[in-house]
Amino acid sequence: MAAAKDTLISYPPRIQLAQVPTPLQALTRLQQHRGGPLIWLKRDDMTGGPLTGNKVRKLEFLFARAKQESCEAVITCGGIQSNHCRATALVAAQLGFDCHLILRGKPDDTMPAQGNELLDKLAGASISYCEPREYFSSLEYKFAAQVEAYKQQGKRAMVIPTGGSNDTGVWGYVAAAEEIQRDYIAHGFMPDAIFCATGSGGTQAGLTMGMHMLGGSVPVYGINVCDDEAYFLNKVSADLQAWQHTYPEAAQGIVQSEIKINVIDGYVGRGYGIADTPVFETIRELATVEGVVLDPVYTGKAFNGLLQEIDQGRFANASNIVFVHTGGIFGLFPFADALFR
Ligand SMILES: Cc1ncc(COP(=O)(O)O)c(C=O)c1O
Repeated sequence: MAAAKDTLISYPPRIQLAQVPTPLQALTRLQQHRGGPLIWLKRDDMTGGPLTGNKVRKLEFLFARAKQESCEAVITCGGIQSNHCRATALVAAQLGFDCHLILRGKPDDTMPAQGNELLDKLAGASISYCEPREYFSSLEYKFAAQVEAYKQQGKRAMVIPTGGSNDTGVWGYVAAAEEIQRDYIAHGFMPDAIFCATGSGGTQAGLTMGMHMLGGSVPVYGINVCDDEAYFLNKVSADLQAWQHTYPEAAQGIVQSEIKINVIDGYVGRGYGIADTPVFETIRELATVEGVVLDPVYTGKAFNGLLQEIDQGRFANASNIVFVHTGGIFGLFPFADALFR
């Protein structure tokens, strides 16, 4: 491992895939519209065209590791509209890997694939669909069976877990934390807090570790879009421990107990992937006031949570807040009916 230029952090191998640095945009019109602190959007929805979103930052490190381990195929999993699966399928195509996706749910036989699923197919990924109950009870078995299937073809495969959130994936948002620090220094302010949507925990884990390595003065909050606070305190901590174990050189001197993991629970609503009226109202508000498009599964839900927390006075003393826009636009289109109901 070697420290990259302009950084003191020792990064592992990385394949440059994301269009970075992404802009840090001040939502001044939103502030005029509703008052409160100035919210800055870290536009990670601009990390690429079809590669939009947070996942490509993690995949830079995950695919570098796959290459290092002489893999020619990757296998990953997620919901039918998984942004992570779409990004993985596209990167696999770009780098010449085979890709197999285990998707949770049943395809709708009455209409063609849309959104992320359409792009999975376009990128040439092979797909196995799996009913939710079976998915959760047999995921590990399905991964192992697919690794074996590739082995029979003479190919070594790497398993990438849900959301790309593991020891290696954490690096994507450690690097993003450094980028965000450069951004706010360039804009001449110090954020009171950084927020992101939390779905599998890796983005929050990377931001939390990155900010800790940079001095720890800016707290990171994940607003969970599934499960609950206890689950993510545990998951983010486990990802960070795994990271520390795999990369002892980079993690030298870091004391886990000194790292504060903050989860804001209460905005999951009726469940993962189900959005209610307030979320759609937030999506419409941001689109009409700022021309920024959020998605109902992750960023819209989390941004709505942030606005509600601000309205309740939780960040009454804050002047500048950073919200990481983690992408997800392809997941918006399947909700067209609900948006204009
Ligand atoms: C658009 C979008 N935002 C946020 C997240 C959450 O990131 P993480 O899985 O790293 O918690 C995801 C994926 O789960 C996502 O697709």
